[in-house]
Amino acid sequence: MSATARKTAPNAEDIRARKGDDPLVSLTAYTTPMARLMDPHCDFVLVGDSVGMVLHGLSSTLGVTMEMMILHGQAVARGLETAMMVIDMPFASYEESPAQAFRNAARLMAETGAGAVKLEGGVEMAETIRFLVKRGIPVMAHVGLTPQSINTLGGYKVQGRDEQADAVLADARAVAEAGAFSVVLEKVPQGLADRITAEVPIPTIGIGASAGCDGQILVVDDMLGFFTAFKPKFVKRYADLGPLAEAAIAEYAAEVRARTFPAAEHVFADQAPAKGGKA
Ligand code: KIV
Repeated sequence: MSATARKTAPNAEDIRARKGDDPLVSLTAYTTPMARLMDPHCDFVLVGDSVGMVLHGLSSTLGVTMEMMILHGQAVARGLETAMMVIDMPFASYEESPAQAFRNAARLMAETGAGAVKLEGGVEMAETIRFLVKRGIPVMAHVGLTPQSINTLGGYKVQGRDEQADAVLADARAVAEAGAFSVVLEKVPQGLADRITAEVPIPTIGIGASAGCDGQILVVDDMLGFFTAFKPKFVKRYADLGPLAEAAIAEYAAEVRARTFPAAEHVFADQAPAKGGKA
């Protein structure tokens, strides 16, 4: 489906129905202007908890709060017209019990207008996913590398090589059976990602997985070159805007110091201009 043919934002069931169809396109967003730029090109936009690292300078996603997600979710919602908005449940907002997850998922959706929540985890989160879906909350799952668990996974490692493969496959099957409408596969080996895509009945969304997934997602600040603290292998820099922005800032600083900015065209005359003239 072309971006121009679509007039209204898809919902979770529309996304589920895209299994095996044209690839689903997605990026993360945290602000209104960026959401506006990607809205015509994306099927869904994720307000990712990666916001903590890329916009707030945190060293992991563990410090991200419900309040941060709500604030950024509200900003992104203002920039979207035709893409669906999915919002991440932050660390410690859903793991304790299905009831805790429902309370926080409902709050995220009510206060931001998101059409679904995303949460991390496989077999161990299946009961929670079932609980949420039965109560009207569409859930996107996230298996493989789950960044909220880096302390138990031992870092940002590929998940599912060799004897780990069965566990990641079991996670993907469990979240699909529990009612998730799609599942993010992060940092999963290509062959395993293809196998999961073939076996589970819901769309797989790859990030560091395989071009054979039902869709792809990237962190927008990674693919635009704004986040430079590190670059995972799976990130393709479609633009290198960080250095461009820094060069512009350096030029501004030099012009201010040389008193060449503001120039005549940026300042206001003491006399009001004649009618129809410029201020
Ligand atoms: O928080 C995030 O940006 C994510 C994506 C990497 C899928 O979960």
